[in-house]
Amino acid sequence: MESAYYDPYDFISDDSSSEELQDDSEDYDMASAAGGLAGTQSQGLLSSASSGDDMSISDVASSFHERKHRVFSPVPRASTMSSYSYHSSERFRSPSPDNRSMTDSLRETLYREEYGRTLNTYSDVYRLPADEEEIDRLEKQHSMLADIFGGKYPPPLGAALRQGHYEPTKKVLDLGCGSGAWIKDVCRDFPFCEAIGVDLVPIDDSDPEFPPNLRIEVDDLNKGIEHFYDTFDVVHSRLITFGIRDYRRLIEHMVRSVRPNGVIEVQEYDFRTYTREQKLIPANTTDPLGSHPWWATFLAHVREGVAEAGGDISAATNLESWVGGHEALTDVVYRDVWLPVVPGNCRRYQEDVYTRMKDDVMAFLRSLKPLLMGNGVSEERYEILVHHCVRELHESETPQYVRMQCVYATRRPDVLLGPLPPVE
Ligand SMILES: C[S@@+](CC[C@H](N)C(=O)[O-])C[C@H]1O[C@@H](n2cnc3c(N)ncnc32)[C@H](O)[C@@H]1O
Repeated sequence: MESAYYDPYDFISDDSSSEELQDDSEDYDMASAAGGLAGTQSQGLLSSASSGDDMSISDVASSFHERKHRVFSPVPRASTMSSYSYHSSERFRSPSPDNRSMTDSLRETLYREEYGRTLNTYSDVYRLPADEEEIDRLEKQHSMLADIFGGKYPPPLGAALRQGHYEPTKKVLDLGCGSGAWIKDVCRDFPFCEAIGVDLVPIDDSDPEFPPNLRIEVDDLNKGIEHFYDTFDVVHSRLITFGIRDYRRLIEHMVRSVRPNGVIEVQEYDFRTYTREQKLIPANTTDPLGSHPWWATFLAHVREGVAEAGGDISAATNLESWVGGHEALTDVVYRDVWLPVVPGNCRRYQEDVYTRMKDDVMAFLRSLKPLLMGNGVSEERYEILVHHCVRELHESETPQYVRMQCVYATRRPDVLLGPLPPVE
C-alpha cells in the first residue's frame, strides 16, 4: 500500500476504483472515508463520487502536467492589472486605481507584533501570523495538499478557466489568498486568465516570478465583496475560517460573485481530530496539565480562541448543507479528505508526505501562540501543550486525522439572486 495514492479530485470519472481501493486497503485511512461519503452522496442531494487510484505522486504530477500542456497555449501575455493595491482607509473597488510598492510606514500600518510573531492590523478576528515563517508554512502546505489531492484543481474548475477562442477573458478570485500559493499556480497554469487574490495583507510582488496576470487586493472579507458580483468564472477559498465572522454569508457573496456556469470551491477544517474509524477524539481543556490525546486538547484551545475572536468555527461542518442546499448551485460535489495530522502507523502516502505533514504541523503549533496566549492560555501551558503535541506527533503509533471538508459547485444560469440584506 506504500505507493497507493488516493486522489480526491478523481472522484467523478471512475466509480469502480472506489471499491477496489477499499477492498485491498489494510488500514482504514482515506479509502474508508471515501466509502462513507459515497453513502452520503447517494441520498440524492449531491452528485455521486468515486475515489482512489494507484498512482504515485510522480505519476499524478506528470499526468497533471500532460493535462496542463494539452489545455493551454504556451504564450503568456502581459496583464494590464496592477501588481497589488492597498489603501489604509477604504476598501478597493476593482479594477484597482493604485499601484505602489511597500514602504516602511505602510508596513507599520499593516502589521503588529504579538508574542514574538507578526500579525495583520486590519482584522481582530484573524489572529494567525502574517510573517515570513507563516508564509513559508503556507507555501509548503500548498504543495503538500496538491500532492495529497493528486492535483491542484477539480475538473470543473479547470474547464471553467480554460480559455476558448472568442470567449471573454477568464477571471478567477481567491478569497484569503495568504502567500498566494494557490492563485499564483492558477496564473501560471492558465496564463490567459486574470486573477485577483484578496487578503488582509499584501503579497510581496518584488519576486520576478510574480505573475503579471495577478492583482492582490487588501481587504477584510467580513465587510463584503459586492464590488465583485457577477465577475468571475471561478471563486475559491481555502482554510480561511479563522478570520470569517459569518461563513454562510461569505458563501452567499461567492455565489453572487461567480458568473453563470462558473465554479465555486471551498475547503475548510473543523479543527478537531478523529480516529482511523472517523470517531471524534474528545478533548480536555479543564485539566491544568492538559491530557492525552494532546492534539485534541490543543485544538480545543484553538477553537475557543477563534470563537472568542469572532471567527466562525462551525463553517466546515456546515459547508455541505450550505452549498449542497443552495438554490443557485448545481453539480455539487462534496468530499471529506482525512489528513493524518499525527501520522502514527498510517501508510497511505509516500513517506515524504508524512515528513512534510510533520513539518507543517510543527510550524502550525508555533503559529498558534498569539491566538492561544491572546485568549488567556499562559505561556507555561502553551509550552506544555506544544511539547506533548510534538511528542505525540513523533512517537504515537496511533494516527489522528483532521477532516478537510471540500466542496465545489457550479452556478446555475437560470436562478437570479437578489442583494444580501445588510448585516445587523
Ligand atoms: C491559513 S491562511 C490560508 C491561505 C490560503 N488560502 C491557502 O490555502 O494557502 C488564511 C488566510 O486567510 C486570510 N484571511 C483570514 N480572514 C480574512 C478576512 N476576513 N479577510 C481577508 N483575508 C482573510 C489570512 O490573512 C490568511 O492569509
